[in-house]
Amino acid sequence: MSEWKTICRVEDIPVLGARRVARPAGCDVAVFRNAEDKVFALLDRCPHKGGPLSQGIVFGESVACPLHNWTIGLNDGCAKSPDEGCTTKFSVRVESGMVSLDVDELNSLALDEVKADSPAAIRRAA
Ligand code: FES
Repeated sequence: MSEWKTICRVEDIPVLGARRVARPAGCDVAVFRNAEDKVFALLDRCPHKGGPLSQGIVFGESVACPLHNWTIGLNDGCAKSPDEGCTTKFSVRVESGMVSLDVDELNSLALDEVKADSPAAIRRAA
């Protein structure tokens, strides 16, 4: 059975925006809220060149990457055609207005990704 870590209240996430959740091992998670108050979580790293998806604009159930405007699906983390690639999706639980993430996923998923704002990622995006 999953262990959940409470992150914040739904209202703590800006509507059509995101909140970053730092992980000790690196590679932050972006927790998004859309206009219908649905909450999604993805690795804060665009599958294109590592842009910070948490700084993108949410529309429907997608987010527009702030760097080159790719559209990334919030349900699956995948770029919309004709673009290709996916970023890691995290499970979200919303109960009584509180948002929680899966502890095992936080401690294990996508820890080998280079941080979007690291010198290596900036070199790669250039
Ligand atoms: S880094 Fe996201 S669209 Fe290029």
